[in-house]
Amino acid sequence: MLSKRMEEALNAQVNAEFWSAYLYLSMSMHFENESYKGIANWFKVQFQEEQDHATIFMNYINSMGGKVTLRPIDAVETSWNSILHAYEETLRHEKVVTGLINDLYSIAIEDKDYATQSMLKWFIDEQIEEEETARDYIDALKKIGDNGYGLYMLDKELAARTYTTPAPLANNNE
Ligand code: FEO
Repeated sequence: MLSKRMEEALNAQVNAEFWSAYLYLSMSMHFENESYKGIANWFKVQFQEEQDHATIFMNYINSMGGKVTLRPIDAVETSWNSILHAYEETLRHEKVVTGLINDLYSIAIEDKDYATQSMLKWFIDEQIEEEETARDYIDALKKIGDNGYGLYMLDKELAARTYTTPAPLANNNE
């Protein structure tokens, strides 16, 4: 059983995950338009993953007898100066999300809500990976600078990223 405060915070997280999805879809469309198809692909996969994160939270609210209440999704940026700029924004945003997940965990501790603490552990690990990946691409892009061949090779590399169902949803489908 979720406390009212926990249910509201989880619903706010559903909205935050859909906002993240919308942000990355916007980045994907921007880079598609800039003819960086690999970068666009990377952000498209990111968009899919964020929708999965929202779904994991919605499934959890439902499984605990709570009610999912969907709210409007705020507008997102629609263009970025460079690929580096997009990854810097990605890292900045993922740090915000890490803070939100930590806040949820703090509420779960205060509520002695062990089920929600257990569910959130996957997200705590996921956020480490999300921030590390963005940081790695920022480092790579700083080394590449304006080198056209370097950007071409990175675009090729990111074209290979494929979507995989995250563990909490994959387990659900068993
Ligand atoms: Fe849903 Fe990128 O964290």
